[in-house]
Amino acid sequence: MVKIAPSLLSADFSRLADDVKKVEEGGAHWLHFDVMDGHFVPNLTMGPQVVKSLRNKTDLYFDVHLMIENPENYLEAFAKAGADSITVSAEACTHLHRILQMTRGLGVKAGVALNPATPLSVIEYVLDDVDLVLIMSVNPGFGGQKFIPAAVPKIRALREMLGERPVDIQVDGGINAETAPVVRDAGASVLVAGTAVFGEPDVIQAIKMLQTEKKL
Ligand code: DX5
Ligand code: ZN
Repeated sequence: MVKIAPSLLSADFSRLADDVKKVEEGGAHWLHFDVMDGHFVPNLTMGPQVVKSLRNKTDLYFDVHLMIENPENYLEAFAKAGADSITVSAEACTHLHRILQMTRGLGVKAGVALNPATPLSVIEYVLDDVDLVLIMSVNPGFGGQKFIPAAVPKIRALREMLGERPVDIQVDGGINAETAPVVRDAGASVLVAGTAVFGEPDVIQAIKMLQTEKKL
């Protein structure tokens, strides 16, 4: 069964711990932290302090998505704050292989994200160095954007490329009742959802729907 990773970006920042409890009780598997620096993407969000503050409030798996330049300078801080996995943006890494090794060296799962226009060939030679590949299905920077359909054949091709490797395929951006079944069918194993979880009155129902809703 596919795992659901609610994105904190769409939570109520004045009561984060309550919102985290709500999705944990609602059956979420991971908690997705969208970290933005105002350089790699045109928005600013949170740093390791937010991860640290929530670490003792929940048992959820902490999935940190870095949309920042020079991610190598922040890996240790996020690992110490309690990240279970750290995903870097391939486009922000001159030395991607080294950064993935550094991440694993900190005892954290290593992920790499690809922007919509970035080809899969960028990660061809690091497939054995990653635990997760994140296919961005919107241009990173903001929640609530429209799903880019070219992500679907990209997920299929990645599934093929990974072969038997135990690597998660995560999809992030515009995931809702309509797009979730499509990306699940293509081979995604972890779905990030902001608006479609925190924007719904019934969180339990919203999470279940993302896991089980059938294709139209
Ligand atoms: C986009 C972020 C996403 C975003 C998803 O830059 O990486 O995690 O918050 O939000 P929705 O689900 O609303 O598209
Ligand atoms: Zn994200």
